[in-house]
Amino acid sequence: MPLCNMKDLLKKAEEGNYAVGSFSVANMEMILGVIKAAEETRSPIILQIAEVRLNHSPLHIIGPAMLAAAKSATVPVAVHLDHGTSLECIGQALRLGFTSVMFDGSHLPFEKNVEMTKTVVEMAKSTGAAVEAEIGCVGGSEDGSVDIAMRCTSPEQARLFSERTGVDCLAIAIGNAHGFYKDEPELRFDILSEVDRLVDVPLVLHGGTGISDEDFIRCHQNGIKKINIATATFAASERKVREGYEKGEIKGYYDVHTREIEGAYENAKKHMGIFYSVGKAE
Ligand code: 13P
Repeated sequence: MPLCNMKDLLKKAEEGNYAVGSFSVANMEMILGVIKAAEETRSPIILQIAEVRLNHSPLHIIGPAMLAAAKSATVPVAVHLDHGTSLECIGQALRLGFTSVMFDGSHLPFEKNVEMTKTVVEMAKSTGAAVEAEIGCVGGSEDGSVDIAMRCTSPEQARLFSERTGVDCLAIAIGNAHGFYKDEPELRFDILSEVDRLVDVPLVLHGGTGISDEDFIRCHQNGIKKINIATATFAASERKVREGYEKGEIKGYYDVHTREIEGAYENAKKHMGIFYSVGKAE
């Protein structure tokens, strides 16, 4: 059951009409919290880390920890490199045994994005890993360092892109953005349903933090089968620790450790319910 290919997880999500949560982790505590939520709710999940975060959590250290957690889990877990931008990093993730990688060429001209994505699809064939790519531009940036303008996906470009590259899943932009939303997000469900009609592969929603439960449900009932959550997990772990200090409950490091796990656990568990993935591990 444990370490799975992301293609298989998303295929089952398509058949069962739910979405798989793809949770960003920064350390062992978050890995433990997310896995605990998945095992308790019997949800398949994806553990991911973005290339831009590797300056804090080096891939050669956190990668094997993510893979070890997946291998010993009692539910299916895929291990994914999020927003890969360099072929070196993507190659390293594949060599470590990641079962999925994303190439993010959303900022590149269309033809260059196609060409680079095809290179990554070829690289991934050596291990059988799944490949995600992005068309259109999700707003913000994974670590908040740049404020990338959101550009909605053109449904026709999405069809051409997925046919020409052979990706296993496709991230699209429908008004979603990374990080906390400044205003209430207004997702373009008209674009989503048109992309879903034209594109055969499962769709991916980035920028999950701050999207309402109703919108999440509408997304996964209309083609979105992988939903990325990052900021909400980091914030939940940090908040738990802060509250612990405020209440005078933190007496030493392991009280911090326990609260970080709890924050990641509670946040992941809540999302698994909204994504309808609960009980889908069997
Ligand atoms: P949030 O940080 O908004 O949850 O976005 C996560 C994400 O899309 C990671 O790729």
